[in-house]
Amino acid sequence: SRVEKSGYKHFMAKEIAEQPTVLGEAVDHYISKDGKGVSFAAEGLDFTQFDRITMVACGTAFYACLTAKYWFEQLARLPVEVDIASEFRYREPPVAPRTLAIFVSQSGETADTLAALRYMEGKAAKILSVVNVPESSIARESDVALPILAGIEVGVASTKAFTCQLNVLALLALNAAHARGEISDAALGDHLAALRNLPGLMNHALGASDTIEALSRELAKAQDILFLGRGAMYPIALEGALKLKEISYIHAEGYASGELKHGPIALIDENVPVIVMAPRDALFDKTVSNMQEVMARGGKVLLITDAEGAKQAGDDVWRSVILPEIPDLLAPILYAIPAQLLAYHTAVAKGTDVDQPRNLAKSVTVE
Ligand code: G6P
Repeated sequence: SRVEKSGYKHFMAKEIAEQPTVLGEAVDHYISKDGKGVSFAAEGLDFTQFDRITMVACGTAFYACLTAKYWFEQLARLPVEVDIASEFRYREPPVAPRTLAIFVSQSGETADTLAALRYMEGKAAKILSVVNVPESSIARESDVALPILAGIEVGVASTKAFTCQLNVLALLALNAAHARGEISDAALGDHLAALRNLPGLMNHALGASDTIEALSRELAKAQDILFLGRGAMYPIALEGALKLKEISYIHAEGYASGELKHGPIALIDENVPVIVMAPRDALFDKTVSNMQEVMARGGKVLLITDAEGAKQAGDDVWRSVILPEIPDLLAPILYAIPAQLLAYHTAVAKGTDVDQPRNLAKSVTVE
């Protein structure tokens, strides 16, 4: 079936806008009818059988894995190692017994990820893949393949596949936490209720598109842009920088906020916008103090936070994007949306080929 742009200027814009719908459908698909439970028993997944997780992917899917590491470790107390497929496969790491190997891939055809999967198969690890294409090589060669249900993604820069990967990984982490006795029935129910509520909040975030379009016209003049985030927002900073460089060709880097002092602060002046992804979580105050270090050196801060966060951050920030309040677990999924919109509108302002950026392929099936 041919996929159409249905009135949007680019597939990327359409795919960004589709996220509340496809993610909401995927949530309904995976959680029980009463909305209170999530189980992968029918697929043969029992998290009490594992002592550790190894996650492997490339590109945007790698950043989904980095985000999920925070969830599996914090909620389920399962140690997680995350690696880039092209590094993992040639490093040939030792594999401990009771390891679950998780491979995340939109296409299910990325050559390095497939090779890493085959390596882990040879080590007798249980192989779980999180894919968008259920008939793909990676899905077929897995013990368990979970579809993310994003629908066909055409834009080379991944958007809805990323948030739908995060959705399935969050459900897995919640299931793992519950199965391992780390969270109660009631806590699981609360998390799942929040997840069912997420599409509404994502719609709210999409409402920031006009604000972001206006400030993106200014970002389009920059040569370098930094993204900062802490905790599970650190991978979202990395993803924001990747998205921006892929389609606008502006040099961008994501950093853990706490690393600011260890290098990137040397770059700060009035020409380097610093985009701070800061939901009001336990680390918010630390991020605000990193932000003040940037502003004290003349840096222009674009703060992405909620209304109360913006109030606490004061008047010195260059621009703010206000998102609804969100439970900590789901903040990375919600904050991915302004990161995508920033990349999109900046690229449109620069007049680049948003859906087909130079030199990039949707799926890298050769080394
Ligand atoms: C390419 C695409 C990215 C994608 C990466 C991994 O670089 O341009 O959008 O994140 O491959 O692809 P996969 O299909 O394995 O998720």
